[in-house]
Amino acid sequence: MSVLGLGYIGLETAGLEDWSGFATDVLGLQQVDKTKLTRAFRMDDRKQRFIVNDGAEKGPSLFGWEVADHTALLSVAAKLEADHVTVTMGTRALAQEREVQELIVFKDPMDNQVEVFHGPLIATDKFIPGRAISGFRTGVNGMGHIVFMADSRELVDKMSRFYIDLLGFSLTDYYSNPFEARFLHVNPRHHSLAIVQSETRAFHHLMMELYSLDDVGQGYDLVLEGDDLVAATLGRHTSDYMTSFYTWTPSRFMIEYGWGGRSINPDIWEAHERAGGPSYWGHERSWASAEIKEKARQLRLANGKAGNRAPIQVMEGNYQLADGACPWWDGLKANASK
Ligand SMILES: [Fe+2]
Repeated sequence: MSVLGLGYIGLETAGLEDWSGFATDVLGLQQVDKTKLTRAFRMDDRKQRFIVNDGAEKGPSLFGWEVADHTALLSVAAKLEADHVTVTMGTRALAQEREVQELIVFKDPMDNQVEVFHGPLIATDKFIPGRAISGFRTGVNGMGHIVFMADSRELVDKMSRFYIDLLGFSLTDYYSNPFEARFLHVNPRHHSLAIVQSETRAFHHLMMELYSLDDVGQGYDLVLEGDDLVAATLGRHTSDYMTSFYTWTPSRFMIEYGWGGRSINPDIWEAHERAGGPSYWGHERSWASAEIKEKARQLRLANGKAGNRAPIQVMEGNYQLADGACPWWDGLKANASK
């Protein structure tokens, strides 16, 4: 496996000041000093994860994927070039700007600027979140996941093949209802990248995962205070078991803010078609067409009717077992194990 995880993303916006407030006060990122025309934000021990550049309103415009070292970087470059992809070695100045040791730059089939790097720089001072959250779950899982909308079935396939064949991603699962979607992984995160078919070609959302469900709930309260900021209501995904909501950003793309993602074992995972739609419950999408909304609603109600559910995913030190035995629950567990 070549790529280890999503390292950073960058966007270009006409609303630099709006972004500063949103990123710190709502998302809980830490702003770090940069130039007049750039804001950079931390979400963990790394010097930066989220870069906002002043400019035309373009939304997310660059995506940094991490590899282990110089050798891995060269091997990715060779593979891309063998497939006639134009690869540029990042200059020393660009590496400094990205706070990494070395990088290469190229375009994917959707014309996104993709940067593969190694050696992210680690900050000497500790991460101080912009609001009182417990922090972001990154580490081996990378900074989160990203989703692109492709405007044809062919482009969905082309993007999937590009990331799988040339960058070492693996297919986790896929579905065709209520729309075509492919989910790809590079580490235990269920998907670091997904491509969904849509009427438009654009960036869909960035997912950030929090350590505490309360971080998400308190973020939801803040978003509810805003002017029409909820892009999808609180819900739980069938794919990565994430409990999350989606908010509009100042650049009008979405950020999914979630908790409790599952960890898969990439060594033994087998790709499969996923039935039941995107969510066990919730995630009513304000942006979807009436037809898609209705399909998604029917799938959710069917999940509820069938009692489809999944255990919550917790980390050591972040849960407490409830006291007391309950004959009803013990009976359910005994029946489930038969
Ligand atoms: Fe997502």
